[in-house]
Amino acid sequence: MEIVAAADSDERGLSLLKVVNVLQRVVVFIHSFTIDKFKGNLQRPSGASQEMPHMREEDIATKVKDICQELVLNHEAMKEVCSCLQEEINRGLGKDSNPEATIKCFPTYVRELPNGKENGRFLALDLGGTNFRVLLIELGAKCTMDSRIYAVPQPIMVGPGEGLFDHIAECLASFIKERDLGTELLPLGFTFSFPCKQEGLTKARLACWTKGFKCAGVEGRDVVELLKQAIARRGDVKIKICAVLNDTTGTLMSCAWKNHNCRIGLIVGTGTNACYMEKLEKVELWDGSTDEPHQVIINTEWGAFGDNGCLDFVRTEYDNTIDRESINPGRQLYEKMISGMYMGEIARQVLVRLVSDGLLFGGYASDILLEKGSFFTKYISEIESDKPDDFNNCRAILEELGFNDATDADCANVRYACECVSRRAANLAAAGVAVLLNRINEESVTVAVDGSVYRFHPHFHNLMVEQISHLIKPGIKFDLMLSEDGSGRGAALVAAVASRSASMR
Ligand code: GLC
Repeated sequence: MEIVAAADSDERGLSLLKVVNVLQRVVVFIHSFTIDKFKGNLQRPSGASQEMPHMREEDIATKVKDICQELVLNHEAMKEVCSCLQEEINRGLGKDSNPEATIKCFPTYVRELPNGKENGRFLALDLGGTNFRVLLIELGAKCTMDSRIYAVPQPIMVGPGEGLFDHIAECLASFIKERDLGTELLPLGFTFSFPCKQEGLTKARLACWTKGFKCAGVEGRDVVELLKQAIARRGDVKIKICAVLNDTTGTLMSCAWKNHNCRIGLIVGTGTNACYMEKLEKVELWDGSTDEPHQVIINTEWGAFGDNGCLDFVRTEYDNTIDRESINPGRQLYEKMISGMYMGEIARQVLVRLVSDGLLFGGYASDILLEKGSFFTKYISEIESDKPDDFNNCRAILEELGFNDATDADCANVRYACECVSRRAANLAAAGVAVLLNRINEESVTVAVDGSVYRFHPHFHNLMVEQISHLIKPGIKFDLMLSEDGSGRGAALVAAVASRSASMR
């Protein structure tokens, strides 16, 4: 009896164990399911080595540095970049060499800088990134601005050109209506931040799209004309387009309004580009009037630097992949190493490589990290904003990417990779500015700068200043100044300066 009872209780115990076991599996399954769903599944990246030998933290850090070394540009490389860029700008400005040149150096027809006394009310349109803005600007002793941002939906960015210009005209019409501006014929400046061959202050033919735009039927056409046609199709708005300009020109003008040493406008944002004031005698390409002043702002369109292969000696496998997978392969190669549209993706690729080599997160990547475009450029700024021994932002970002258990060593290595990517971008942009400063060759020059990367990266400004100092001729002094709202105020100033010059003629 007793034995039977014992057997019975054993059996009951066993069944209970089985039930507990099953329950445990269910719990583990549900848990892993929720992790999969909300935090991404950790996995070995494809192509990763099978064996994950255990390594000491110091050895891992050394290997991370070795892998990132190709992103580090030494002084010799920097000098070489400068001399190539100098040569390419010369080719761009030369009449015979221009057609084949990669850096197009478009004369802007803006030949005067503001004197600070401009006044009046202006409208401005600003197209050049993910958003489109309409602005109402009042210039006087101060500058006041009222603006509204409109999204440019992705299908419009890559759809037919008519659709894009209809969208712009519609936003403009609704702004004019909202602000009750219908009765005034306000002068308008159109900031169109893509490479354009200008044929006058109000005529600009798009050379090619950049920064993720690809609207059919616009390349080779005058964008002012396309805007006028779209406005005419609506028939409910009257405007007077006084100027079309690039964002770099707007940035230069906006800063020059109060700072009379300003000669260079630089953007490091979604894209990168610079313009500068050049002497007419150096612009062989110039076909406009040779009256005073003997100068003109040149929109370099330096984003295309390297498109002929001359930057291959500093480009990496990551740059090749970014370019191959972009909407415009083979184009804008310098821009793809520097600007906000690409920097996050470069960093992501470096991180995936480090995971593949077993140097990060124990060799396991999250689904999110493996997804193209998941590592935003703003993450780089945030990660590098952490204090030296603190990884608050870094940890929060890694959690967003599906890594809940990143160690301090992981965070330090992620930060190091980000630093290499952003430092290279700052150094390359600095090389460009140094070349322009050396060309201008004045004792003291202010560089007006705008763009999200320059604005939000905690060290970009200092990194650039340091690198420029190593590359300029002795005796040249410079400063980099944040230029507030070049695309709006700058557009109004170009329109204002244009009407002043016209009235003096
Ligand atoms: C791209 C455009 C250029 C613009 C720059 C910054 O490089 O081609 O025109 O100035 O982005 O927005």
